[in-house]
Amino acid sequence: MGRFTDKTVLVTGGGSGIGRATALAFADEGAIVVVAGRTEEKLAETVRLIEEKGAKGGAVRADLTRSDDVAQLIRTTVSSYGGLHVAVNNGGILAAAGPISMIDEEQFASVLTTNITGTWLAMKHEIAYMSENGGGTIVNVSSSVGPHVTVPYLGAYGASKAAISSLTRTAALEAIGAGVRVNAVSPGPIDTPMSLLPGETEEGRADRLREALPIGRVGTVAEVANAVLWLASPESSYAVGVDIVLDGGGHV
Ligand SMILES: NC(=O)c1ccc[n+]([C@@H]2O[C@H](COP(=O)([O-])OP(=O)(O)OC[C@H]3O[C@@H](n4cnc5c(N)ncnc54)[C@H](OP(=O)(O)O)[C@@H]3O)[C@@H](O)[C@H]2O)c1
Repeated sequence: MGRFTDKTVLVTGGGSGIGRATALAFADEGAIVVVAGRTEEKLAETVRLIEEKGAKGGAVRADLTRSDDVAQLIRTTVSSYGGLHVAVNNGGILAAAGPISMIDEEQFASVLTTNITGTWLAMKHEIAYMSENGGGTIVNVSSSVGPHVTVPYLGAYGASKAAISSLTRTAALEAIGAGVRVNAVSPGPIDTPMSLLPGETEEGRADRLREALPIGRVGTVAEVANAVLWLASPESSYAVGVDIVLDGGGHV
């Protein structure tokens, strides 16, 4: 407890799922947590939950595909919430599912722009600020799909996540000299709607994963948050450019 007391933490995609769970876990540890995304109501609910814990939270509406939004997000975080010590680049989409020969061009571009360009833009501004202001830690949320396992029908998503893992390693090498540690987590199927197949129920997912994964179950948002907090904290001080796969053994 208290690992992030008075530290300012930014979580993109903090209005739902893994991002919200991670934001709340940081709040439990004393952080000031800023959540960003496109949907104000979802962000406001996360802030309400943060404040319910007695912590300080803030919401900034920002579309990761828009350069001006991302620059403004970092400026607002720094000026209104006391700097930027930790950034979790979690916002992303899983669209354009389907065979490579059938993927719609616009949808393919949208996945790449949101996941790759969005993560890069966020890191661009985060690293610039942290490098000049005493360092910090960045955790990117990649995926087991793409960098670690190959799954049919998720070509655009997998390519975008492989790029995030690669960008993580490059940024880690470039930024460590300035005291900025960059790492990633790569979750397998986690208990949010994103891991449901089209039309699948939660029970159907449980049946599928009982067979498909060595651990025999879906992962929890808390299990991802735990790893993100470790990578963001001084406990992981020798971890630079690592990409922790959290997929119940699916990639082994
Ligand atoms: N769930 C899984 O099984 C799983 C597995 C591996 C990796 N992941 C990764 O974990 C991350 C979180 O996923 P999740 O499962 O928690 O799903 P989720 O609830 O859909 O979270 C994605 C978040 O990203 C935000 N977002 C999407 N596009 C954005 C944009 N252009 N600008 C700003 N924010 C944007 C969404 O908010 P708005 O729509 O309001 O903008 C949403 O809050 C994603 O990067 C995902 O790829 C998930």
